Amino acid sequence: MFGKIVSWIDDRIPMTRVWNMHIAQYPAPKNFNFWYFFGSLAMLVLVNQILTGIWLTMNFVPSSEGAFASVEYIMRDVEYGWLLRYLHSTGASAFFIVVYMHMFRGMIYGSYQKPRELLWLFGMFIFLALMAEAFMGYLLPWGQMSFWGAQVIISLFGAIPVIGDDLTLWIRGDYVISGATLNRFFALHVIALPLVIVILVFLHIVALHEVGSNNPEGIEIKRKKGSVAEEDKPKFKFHEYYTDKKDIVDAIPFHPYYTVKDIVGVVGFLILFCWVVFFMPAMNGFFLEAPNFEAANPLKTPEHIFPVWYFTPFYAILRAIPDKLIGVAAMGASIVVLALLPWIDRGRVKSVRYRCGFHKWNIAGFVVTFVLLGWVGATPQTDMKTIISQICTVTYFMFFVLLFVYSKNEKTKPLPERLTK
Ligand code: HEM
Repeated sequence: MFGKIVSWIDDRIPMTRVWNMHIAQYPAPKNFNFWYFFGSLAMLVLVNQILTGIWLTMNFVPSSEGAFASVEYIMRDVEYGWLLRYLHSTGASAFFIVVYMHMFRGMIYGSYQKPRELLWLFGMFIFLALMAEAFMGYLLPWGQMSFWGAQVIISLFGAIPVIGDDLTLWIRGDYVISGATLNRFFALHVIALPLVIVILVFLHIVALHEVGSNNPEGIEIKRKKGSVAEEDKPKFKFHEYYTDKKDIVDAIPFHPYYTVKDIVGVVGFLILFCWVVFFMPAMNGFFLEAPNFEAANPLKTPEHIFPVWYFTPFYAILRAIPDKLIGVAAMGASIVVLALLPWIDRGRVKSVRYRCGFHKWNIAGFVVTFVLLGWVGATPQTDMKTIISQICTVTYFMFFVLLFVYSKNEKTKPLPERLTK
């Protein structure tokens, strides 16, 4: 009976073919490690955000009069409303943790290098859309930080010469942040941006499966047709789509090997995630900021205005520069340089394991810089912290400048022929 239903569907849409091509018979390098958990986890968090978001929308009132009270209503009166909200708010932070780990993996294993440039660019567009999605979502509860955070960020567009003022007016839909702003942010947050993100994730996976996954060794598992001896070929059946064009070595089918591995990651992730949801959803003000438990009041500015932690590294770059326009430009540039990594890195060797010692230090320095920027951006400014943020802004960009310089004639270790670790 089951077989009949499947073949009935297969005669009408290519269900089994797609399953085989992209899951059951997708050749994945056999050496994926911890860092390869985060792609599937990002998908899991995306699904969590969409599902809990749909249910939150059922009781949320997108107006300046009703928003704050409707969130309180969800928290107190809606059955399991508190759970839906905490899953969604913790999910937002989890999304960024997962995506930052996922991007870092790409950096250490050179997964952005040829032929995966477009895959990386789709990733960067996802990252941009995700930042817009999180920013707009944060206005919706209409708390003090929602209001004043949006005020600060939207006013940044005012720094752009000539069109700045008109642009801020156009974004807000009003002369101040108002119900009109809340309404449009709601529309963008619940449908437009999620749609864009889902489409981009689809394209991301299409690009990944076209060129194939990289791996911790940074060497390709595809070889020129006919160049691999019969005994070296994997003993698994892979889809003709991959084997027609190239010979494959050291690969295993995604299912069941990596579906099972990813379940391990999902369980580990859910333990941590549920612990936060149930025991510390505000995460000491990092995931839900204290002023946001108070309704938005345009007449009362909070003592300190900070974005949520995942924006603070970029926010610190903005604040490091006294001139507003140059600050905004530097903040924009700090994201653009990430997107340009495939062209900034001129190295031929992908994985950090086989690159020069200096590359390891450069990456370590980048991590320290990013964390320090995140910290200074999330705490009240002092003279000392301004200096730290200025130094870190320089070291942030230095990472890319140095990479561009030394990657050209880098002394690398010899690459192995095959995947052994
Ligand atoms: C909603 C967000 C995202 C989702 C759901 C997602 C999903 C995935 C999945 C499922 C994979 C394959 C499994 C894996 O390699 O872990 C992958 C690979 C990859 N992703 Fe993403 N991704 C997201 C965001 C990003 C971002 C922001 C970037 C970087 C700018 C990025 C860059 C990459 C790269 C370079 C690979 C190939 C890695 C390799 O083969 O070594 N992704 N992504």
